[in-house]
Amino acid sequence: MQRLAPALRQDNVPLDLIALIKTILAATKEISFRVSQAHLGGLMGSTLDENIQGEIQKKLDVVANELFKDILLESGFVKAISSEEEDSSVAGEQTGKYIVSFDPLDGSSNIDINSLIGTIFSIHEAPEHMEASNPDMFKQSGNRQVCAGYVLYGPSTMLVMTTGSGTHFYVLDRTHGGYLLVKRNVQVPEDTQEFAINMSNQRFWQEPMQNYINDLLAGDTGPRAKNFNMRWIAAMVGDIHRVLCRGGIFTYPADSRNAEQPYKLRLMYEANPMSFLIEQAGGLAMTSQGRIMDIEPSSIHQRVEVIMGSKNEVEACLGYYK
Ligand code: AHG
Ligand code: MN
Ligand code: MN
Repeated sequence: MQRLAPALRQDNVPLDLIALIKTILAATKEISFRVSQAHLGGLMGSTLDENIQGEIQKKLDVVANELFKDILLESGFVKAISSEEEDSSVAGEQTGKYIVSFDPLDGSSNIDINSLIGTIFSIHEAPEHMEASNPDMFKQSGNRQVCAGYVLYGPSTMLVMTTGSGTHFYVLDRTHGGYLLVKRNVQVPEDTQEFAINMSNQRFWQEPMQNYINDLLAGDTGPRAKNFNMRWIAAMVGDIHRVLCRGGIFTYPADSRNAEQPYKLRLMYEANPMSFLIEQAGGLAMTSQGRIMDIEPSSIHQRVEVIMGSKNEVEACLGYYK
């Protein structure tokens, strides 16, 4: 099996970007270890703090964020970082060529039940003429990502990553400590009979999503003339990993629970990196209004509607909004 660096060189990834990716992966190996030891190391449960998103932080959210941030900032490769768990961006080296956005632990509600969690990251080039402390550097569309990926801390610790030449799967080999390529050019099947949505919010959705899901639930005697299965892991990393492996549609639609905040998922830390991975695997990653990666961000903690996965199913869903 091929090691990570030769696999990246085969895709003509620049050496300085490979060095940054290796730095990110060093952080994920440490997080993977801490996750596996969380019970023994007193890292279960919540802190008393809220993050900028208004969510109570788990102890592991904080530990993973500090680890990721410190390793990146010490590396000298990054001009700034931006994290779901930080109030604003954090400056690195003024001469750093890249900026990194990350969700240090995705699926935090799964920590205490020993279920799927992961780390999501997204890399852009740093604009040369901006100060490292300027958060506006991060206001770049998903189209301009040079790399995106996630590490899933599951039964195997798996890296799923793209640098724009397809989406590839790697597994952490603990015997030599590196990630090994296990599958090149993953393809999301165009059709599916599986959907992922938090059904408990159904009464808050807009009418097009209500109608679409109702038609899926109607099964082979309804308008879609086939039966659908449902899965919800409550960690986007887990749900998107399943979609990449065997197809499906994943959506977190607009809802009316909080009039000021109709969306849940974050553009920089969740939606954009996952969109890059899904599109590079032949899937679609949309809002009801257009491509997620075309969105020009207005703030670093912006949230967005997400409808992604198998091409034909995403198109079927979007048809209800027309
Ligand atoms: P995070 O743990 O980083 O806050 O993200 C959780 C996100 C996403 O991963 C998942 O799909 C969704 O929130 C789960 O939402 P529900 O709580 O509605 O299930
Ligand atoms: Mn998340
Ligand atoms: Mn998180």
